[in-house]
Amino acid sequence: MSEVHTRPVPSEFAANALIGAEDYERMYRQSVENPEAFWAQQAKDFLHWDKPFTQVLEEDMHKGHAAWFADGQLNVTVNCIDKHLATRGDQTAILWEGDDPAHSQAISYRNLHENVCRLANLLKSRGVKKGDRVCIYMPMIPEAAYAMLACARIGAVHSVVFGGFSPISLKDRILDSDCRLVITADEAIRGGKHIALKANVDQALSECPNVHTAIVIKHTGTPVDWDSQRDIWYGESVAQMDSECPPEIVNAEDPLFILYTSGSTGKPKGVLHSTAGYLLMTTMTFKYVFDYKEGEVFWCTADVGWITGHSYIVYGPLCAGATSLMFEGVPTYPDASRFWQVVDKHQVNIFYTAPTAIRALIGAGDNYVTGTDRSSLRLLGTVGEPINPEAWEWYYNVVGDKRCPIVDTWWQTETGAHMITPLPGAMALKPGSASKPFFGVQPALLDENGKEIEGAGEGSLVIKRSWPSMIRGVYGDRQRMIDTYFSMYPGYYVTGDGARRDESGYYWITGRIDDVLNVSGHRLGTAEIESALVLHEDIAEAAVVGYPHDIKGQGIYAFATLKSGHQPSDILRQQLIDLCAKEISPIAKPDIIQWAPGLPKTRSGKIMRRILRKIACNELDNLGDTSTLADPSVVDELIDHRENR
Ligand code: WT7
Repeated sequence: MSEVHTRPVPSEFAANALIGAEDYERMYRQSVENPEAFWAQQAKDFLHWDKPFTQVLEEDMHKGHAAWFADGQLNVTVNCIDKHLATRGDQTAILWEGDDPAHSQAISYRNLHENVCRLANLLKSRGVKKGDRVCIYMPMIPEAAYAMLACARIGAVHSVVFGGFSPISLKDRILDSDCRLVITADEAIRGGKHIALKANVDQALSECPNVHTAIVIKHTGTPVDWDSQRDIWYGESVAQMDSECPPEIVNAEDPLFILYTSGSTGKPKGVLHSTAGYLLMTTMTFKYVFDYKEGEVFWCTADVGWITGHSYIVYGPLCAGATSLMFEGVPTYPDASRFWQVVDKHQVNIFYTAPTAIRALIGAGDNYVTGTDRSSLRLLGTVGEPINPEAWEWYYNVVGDKRCPIVDTWWQTETGAHMITPLPGAMALKPGSASKPFFGVQPALLDENGKEIEGAGEGSLVIKRSWPSMIRGVYGDRQRMIDTYFSMYPGYYVTGDGARRDESGYYWITGRIDDVLNVSGHRLGTAEIESALVLHEDIAEAAVVGYPHDIKGQGIYAFATLKSGHQPSDILRQQLIDLCAKEISPIAKPDIIQWAPGLPKTRSGKIMRRILRKIACNELDNLGDTSTLADPSVVDELIDHRENR
């Protein structure tokens, strides 16, 4: 390893930070020595309860069970909206910046209240009740947040599906959670390109007989097909609704939302999050990790279709009473200075993005950054994948002008909120390290025998005790949650990531150690891509692995075996790529397809991915033991015919 260039907390930053070094040590100690007392206090400080809780925690990690504040009652939108009306009704809650730099809009907490209540009443008028599931398939426009919050207003459970997913993926998700109503828009627009959301919904719903209503937002105004039995326009419908909607007070453990994410096996899982624990931890991490101060503008560049958008565009910032910037576009449109233009335009103080975006912008050149002012920025953050020290240094030196600390936040869809992250006023930064656990989080590293590693070392990253925003279930399949996260090492939550811990207790996430890929910060299961590839009638078998990619972090490398009598061709290659886009999403398109006459298998027929991974990564000097292969010669054959990248 090259030498680490540690950055101490800048003294001015430390002087004004919400949490200093001693606060962190003291509060962390409390949080793990007496979690119940610690979290009870936080839950009182951060949330408004309609019925106070008397129980704090009930957990059994062996069964993947956790219940936080279980006898308390509250409503998420009371916390994210109503609570603020008296003190900051006119403050901007959502600052929207369109794909087109000429479009922007400020939505105050008061406006937000009205919009959410109207849509909540519309949902009720279409028969949606507490506990019902609602699918949201939307562009990055304020109505996406209204839709999520409108569900929370009435106790319905939302399932947001990223607008980049294909009609087939959308259909699978609607059916899996039995959504009866879909909220969408005519089109999305990103980087000037239109995406036909309504047409995708039409296609998906042709196989979803239980969906009785599609609420459609007119966004670009492009004409769309219409099913007058099912489709209603958002604008004209909400205009007829009352602007007040009493909040449905729910139990702390009632589900707030489902969000699908990919795993090692099978179809994506519907990760279920609770109401109170999730809201508490997103709000608290928002405030402390981003050191958020009253009146500041916070910008998270994620899409609301991912957990990052749920937690740090909508729930955390709004519950904390912040101004949350929501951006419809892409970093490179109209040109590669867009992020920094927007920072200047809206005087953004805290900016949170993904390493893949940073790497793409490095490639465009420093001039796009240095031509902008950026003096409003105070803190930077990253999320979604390991950040390589070169990208970190560029972000720190060029974007942040060496002034702004960077919080490299490690967490997952299943964790709901930040888990391992610097607190910027409390700890020195080491480029590439996510630093230390957040309050109440007890990480451990396990060796290959499942034994905890003490002190410095590297192993499988697990979490020892439950935390408030922990996954509460896999929708419709409780056993699958236990099997996936709580069985491999009984008593621990298994993250699927590997990590190293250094002498000072800092964590360095090394990436997934299961069959999950992280492509441009998007999570994909190798099994999903393989299933898509073998749908092609010429393909007998496929195996997918990741390989290092300069911009995407990981690229998708597919080995495909043809059925006998079929020939490889560029046409076939393109058909396979199109198939992945159609079945899953354009983000799932393989970067490389290698025609494989055979795949390395054990004598019992199991594909040895370890070897395929080494071939894809060009790590040929150390292929490991190949003697257990049924036919070791296939390995030489694959090495000889590697594809160029
Ligand atoms: C996986 C979770 C967390 C929201 C976005 C992704 C990787 C996430 C980091 C980080 C290294 C990271 C892990 C994790 N990951 N953040 N700061 N450093 N790796 O959520 O789609 O559930 O993916 O993203 O591999 O397991 P997700």
